[in-house]
Amino acid sequence: MTAKLDLSAVYTILDKSGRKQQAIISILQEIQEVYHYLPQEVFPILSKELGMSEARIFSIATFYENFSLEPKGKYVIKVCDGTACHVRKSIPILEKLRSELGLSEKKKTTDDLNFTVETVSCLGACGLAPVLTVNDVVHPEMTPDKVVILLNKLKEELQDAE
Ligand code: FES
Repeated sequence: MTAKLDLSAVYTILDKSGRKQQAIISILQEIQEVYHYLPQEVFPILSKELGMSEARIFSIATFYENFSLEPKGKYVIKVCDGTACHVRKSIPILEKLRSELGLSEKKKTTDDLNFTVETVSCLGACGLAPVLTVNDVVHPEMTPDKVVILLNKLKEELQDAE
C-alpha cells in the first residue's frame, strides 16, 4: 500500500498562481519540483481549479520531456552520455551506479523512492567530462570509484534526515 499523498502544496501553488490557465506550465513545473514528478492525483484538482479538461492538462504534461508522470527518487542522478562524456567512459559510471542501486535501463527508480538514475545527452559541462548531476548539482570528472563514495555520502544524508 502506498501512503496517501499530501496534496496541500498543490493548493499553495495554485493560490500563488492566481489560478490562471495561462500559468499551467509553471504550475506543473512547481508541482514537479515539490513531488519530483506529477502525481496522477493532481490532474483532477488542476482541472477543477483552473477550469481546464484533465485531458488537456495531461497532453501538456506528456508533451514536455521535462515532466515525469512516474515517481522519482529523492535523489535524481543524471549521468551524461553525450559524446565528450561517452569517450571519457561514462558507461562504466552508469553501470556502477545501477549495480550499486539494483537498477537497470528499465528500472530507473529504487523501490524506496530514494534514487532515480537517468541518462542525458549533454549537461553542457563537457570540459568537466565525465559528468553527472545529483538534483541538478554537477559532479565533475567522475569515475566508478567516485560514484561509490558519492552514493555512500547520499545514503548518509538520507539517514541523517530520518
Ligand atoms: S557531453 Fe557530457 S557534459 Fe557535454
